[in-house]
Amino acid sequence: MKIAIYPGSFDPITYGHLDVIERAASIFDRIIVAVARNISKNPLFTVEERLYQIKESIKELKKEYEEKTEVDDFFGLLVDYAVRKNACAIIRGLRAVSDFEYEFQMALMNRRLREEIVTVFLMPNEKHTYLDSSIVREIVQLGGDVSNFVSPLVAEQLCRKFGK
Ligand code: COA
Repeated sequence: MKIAIYPGSFDPITYGHLDVIERAASIFDRIIVAVARNISKNPLFTVEERLYQIKESIKELKKEYEEKTEVDDFFGLLVDYAVRKNACAIIRGLRAVSDFEYEFQMALMNRRLREEIVTVFLMPNEKHTYLDSSIVREIVQLGGDVSNFVSPLVAEQLCRKFGK
């Protein structure tokens, strides 16, 4: 069984992330969407809130893709987590050239750390190219509508966080 990890901060999960999950689920037997606990960002949502948002958001995927997708969190090195989960691949989304340098560095470092784990880059639909979680947070904070970018539950939780 080919298992892939899709790691990230998902603060919050967007339709751009869901697009990547869908593409990954069309290739691999199992996808583990893994929220990193130890990234240096100062998150808006707790890990538990993000896990719940991801579980609810993946319900919007095709049933067969939803059933292939598991949601988890991890602490420590991503490649060690991947080995513990018997994964053969790490999935990363590439939205634009600006993502490339950082992703290239991470992929090469992960390969140095664990040669057997392959990084696979997937391109989300171009309509999500401009999307990231901070821009979504900012739009809500400034009173804008994010219903085209995140699931209804995430939109509602964002509004509640910002008192909108
Ligand atoms: N659609 C929309 N937005 C996307 C996206 C997509 N398809 N892909 C990435 N993004 C956005 C995210 O929302 C995030 O936005 P933000 O910065 O505004 O919040 C940004 O792009 C990058 O986030 P993400 O993909 O979640 O990556 P990250 O940089 O936050 O997390 C980890 C990177 C968790 C994978 C990395 O830090 C890691 O592996 N940590 C574990 C420790 C480790 O092993 N370190 C050594 C690594 S070599």
